[in-house]
Amino acid sequence: MNPKQMAAERGASLVESGMVLGLGSGTTATLVVQAIGRRLREGRLRNVDGVPSSSAIAAVARESGVTLTTLDEHPVLDLDLDGADEVDPNLNLIKGLGGALLWEKIVAAASRRVVILVDESKLVDRLGGKAPLPVEVIPSGWRTHIPLVESLGGKPELRKNPDGEPFVTDEGNYILHCRFDGIPDPAGLEARLRSRPGVVGTGLFLGIAHQVIIGRPSGVEVRMRGT
Ligand code: A5P
Repeated sequence: MNPKQMAAERGASLVESGMVLGLGSGTTATLVVQAIGRRLREGRLRNVDGVPSSSAIAAVARESGVTLTTLDEHPVLDLDLDGADEVDPNLNLIKGLGGALLWEKIVAAASRRVVILVDESKLVDRLGGKAPLPVEVIPSGWRTHIPLVESLGGKPELRKNPDGEPFVTDEGNYILHCRFDGIPDPAGLEARLRSRPGVVGTGLFLGIAHQVIIGRPSGVEVRMRGT
């Protein structure tokens, strides 16, 4: 098993029968959903429902036999299992390089417990040193955010598909990938970006993860927030 798979399996082992889950997005979340599906088929789990954070993970859940539900039916979720692009020592995250940041954040915010599964390549001393920060904006007036991001020290670029057309999220929005040379004040940056009309979300997940499970070649490490 590779480290990502190890983290995903440990995440799946936290699921109990009867739980309603938040299903994250990305390759690690896919492994988790597949592992949950296996446990359901083997009879080790029963009655597990999931709220998907993207159309892509909804498709994986259907293939894996994990029943889908909605936040309308279940406004409070037991457990959210997701990946991340960067994890800092305080368990603050950058997420959204898969393009699902808005739904991921809504699903995480609705969850009693948020557990993030990563391999050690995602660990950073400071957010924004490696991964760009995705910022989701409505298409109308998207260019007007460029000077704002630049004034905050970032280099924004519209995320595009391989054909050169803008990448469009499940919500019909655009994403600006904003490169920072490290983000010294993530909470301040989040506040500045979120107060901008037209910005609907950022990939900064601050104070949201309760637990991070890190897969390493030597085994799995569990970090809890505040410890
Ligand atoms: C999806 O939008 C992202 O937030 C993912 O959770 C994140 O990019 C991690 O993805 P991987 O598990 O594929 O590295």
